[in-house]
Amino acid sequence: MSAPEWFAANRANWDERVPIHLRSYDLTALRAGRGVLHPIEEGEFQVTPGERVLHLQCHFGADTLTLAQRGAVVTGVDFSPVAIAAARVLAMELGLTARFVEANVYEAPQVLPEPGGFDRVFVSWGALCWLPDTVGWAKVVSSYLRPGGQLYLIEGHPAALVFDDLAAGDDGMPGWFAPYFHSGPLVLDDERDYSDAAARLGNKRTYEWLHPIGEVVEALRVNGMAIEFLREHDGVPWRMFGQLVEAEGGMYRWPGKRWLPLSFSLSAVRA
Ligand SMILES: C[S@@+](CC[C@H](N)C(=O)[O-])C[C@H]1O[C@@H](n2cnc3c(N)ncnc32)[C@H](O)[C@@H]1O
Repeated sequence: MSAPEWFAANRANWDERVPIHLRSYDLTALRAGRGVLHPIEEGEFQVTPGERVLHLQCHFGADTLTLAQRGAVVTGVDFSPVAIAAARVLAMELGLTARFVEANVYEAPQVLPEPGGFDRVFVSWGALCWLPDTVGWAKVVSSYLRPGGQLYLIEGHPAALVFDDLAAGDDGMPGWFAPYFHSGPLVLDDERDYSDAAARLGNKRTYEWLHPIGEVVEALRVNGMAIEFLREHDGVPWRMFGQLVEAEGGMYRWPGKRWLPLSFSLSAVRA
């Protein structure tokens, strides 16, 4: 598989999701001037006014602009031109100063050549699975941080992502979907969208990757990043499995026994 194949397919898929998400995401608080992140990152990731924050894979910028509302000097990067255009319009509508840059994460240093130019890099929910190479990703992250700068990452847990409802058993519990140590892309044809049950995607083919926790930590370590904390959580902000129940703050959790971690968060500091 050539790189352009995964890139073109994934970008077409994300371009198509943007107008869907502009309708389905709840932007009420953001539009009222007080955007909120999900509860885990609200508790773990605080910005102070004037901090330079790079938001990688920013989608149409809702979280980026939430950080701007708190006084951060924000730059969002995404490979979807549709997402970047929507982010710029949203920033203008909200009267917020924010910079949005269209780039593949791996090529961002060429498009946005600002080594060491950020105090924090923010990466959240459903980002790493679109990237084939965690070492290359960590290199980009590390290159953008000043010494002592922080990466904050909050993601779906790979131990949960090996399961899927498509392989559900008679008890309704999600079944095995992919091996934890699967290498290479998972080539999926799924016309559904996670935030709008009625939406059907024409560009349904995607190339996704499962990255074990150890691989992510090691990728950061070899790129000069020291782990400050690594935490596992029992909530995730989308209905990862039909069995999950909606909880506070837009999170979904197991109804009874906490079978598996559903997400993890990590803070790493550049040496
Ligand atoms: C699930 S969304 C992340 C949501 C994000 N946390 C937010 O603030 O809304 C994944 C994003 O990754 C972007 N993306 C996927 N592959 C990428 C790549 N190689 N380079 C840059 N952006 C990419 C997509 O366009 C999409 O906006």
